[in-house]
Amino acid sequence: MADYTIKVRRFQPESGEGPYWEQFKVELEPSLSVLDALLQTKDREDGSLAVRCSCRAAICGSCGMKINGQSGLGCKTQIGEAQELAEKKMGAVGGSAERAVVVIEPMGNMPVIKDLVTDMESTHWAKIRRVTPWLLPHGAPPEREYIVEPESMLDITQPMACIQCGACVSSCLSMEADPGFIGPAALAKAYRFVGDPRDAETKERLHDLAEDPHGIYDCTHCFACVDACPKDVAPMDQIMRLRRRAGEEGIEDPNSGHDHEIAFVKIIEKKGTLDESLLLQESFAPGIKGKLKPSKRAIKEMLGSIPTAIRGIKTGKMRSLPKLIPGIHHKLPDGAQDDVKAIYKHAEEHNEEFNLYIKGEEDVEPEPDEPTDAILGDEAAAAAESESA
Ligand code: SF4
Ligand code: SF4
Ligand code: FES
Repeated sequence: MADYTIKVRRFQPESGEGPYWEQFKVELEPSLSVLDALLQTKDREDGSLAVRCSCRAAICGSCGMKINGQSGLGCKTQIGEAQELAEKKMGAVGGSAERAVVVIEPMGNMPVIKDLVTDMESTHWAKIRRVTPWLLPHGAPPEREYIVEPESMLDITQPMACIQCGACVSSCLSMEADPGFIGPAALAKAYRFVGDPRDAETKERLHDLAEDPHGIYDCTHCFACVDACPKDVAPMDQIMRLRRRAGEEGIEDPNSGHDHEIAFVKIIEKKGTLDESLLLQESFAPGIKGKLKPSKRAIKEMLGSIPTAIRGIKTGKMRSLPKLIPGIHHKLPDGAQDDVKAIYKHAEEHNEEFNLYIKGEEDVEPEPDEPTDAILGDEAAAAAESESA
């Protein structure tokens, strides 16, 4: 047993007062959870402390909260680990580690009903309904169930793991700036149906999500939802997949993100490393070196990018001017470019995604003949996960 101090942000609407902080002492095994600490407090100190929970096993998604500023599940966060993190944080700001307390707050981006209980209707459930979270198959239904190949479902295993806890919504920086943003949980749910081979309205779904000003292009790739998600759904990755599918459907990306991604992949396939001098032209007008066919939009975008490029060079964000001059990009040493091409060939043959954002590759045991530095897609990760389950 060890002693811990928790500091809870409280709000009791019936009192007519605003939110306030209150500290409680708890005595628990370090392996027990932050939720256990709250329930002990409720039991022994103050029965009016409001917290939502049910399964206590990271299954029901009820106990979303912020612990030391990080959104997650109270029942999945050990009090001992939370204390260590609080001490590290306090040490980092020069305070005394001994006085560190575990700080617990209600989830962000949602109205607070009471203490740690938030109203998830407007920022979570309404958005989930917004993406039509059910299958839309066409034609007469089969006599029995719809049959699908198990492999074709691997792609959506990750979003299917969502328990609707709202931790990603709580941490989303875009939602803070634009409360209308459909958000990470709902967009991950949208991919669950876009990627489902039984759904017949993929195109309509993609147009809907791409053309909504609060849709898939409203995400700023901040990774906060990936860090917050207790079930490894990685909502940002699902948003990137939606964007990729939208690009494949020919839907114009107002940020040129789809073309930018293709440009990265093509340049590295050709040159082994990123030739920054080609990146801008390739992002706005596909065609490697010399085969540039600039569209009106490409010329406009490139001219419009000049002030940004100058600012980037001045502030050191773009590495240096010579990097932007075509023809002086360093080549890889002998043979290395062939290795890069082999990775591409392998990925193509195994239907793997080149995606910097997809997580899980570190969990995959490479095949004996497999290049270990290949960036593997989530299919391999999901297969490895199901094998280890
Ligand atoms: S990556 Fe996108 S969806 Fe996820 S938290 Fe950041 S802005 Fe929100
Ligand atoms: S995506 Fe993850 S964090 Fe977001 S609601 Fe689902 S389980 Fe919770
Ligand atoms: S109580 Fe069910 S997820 Fe925490």
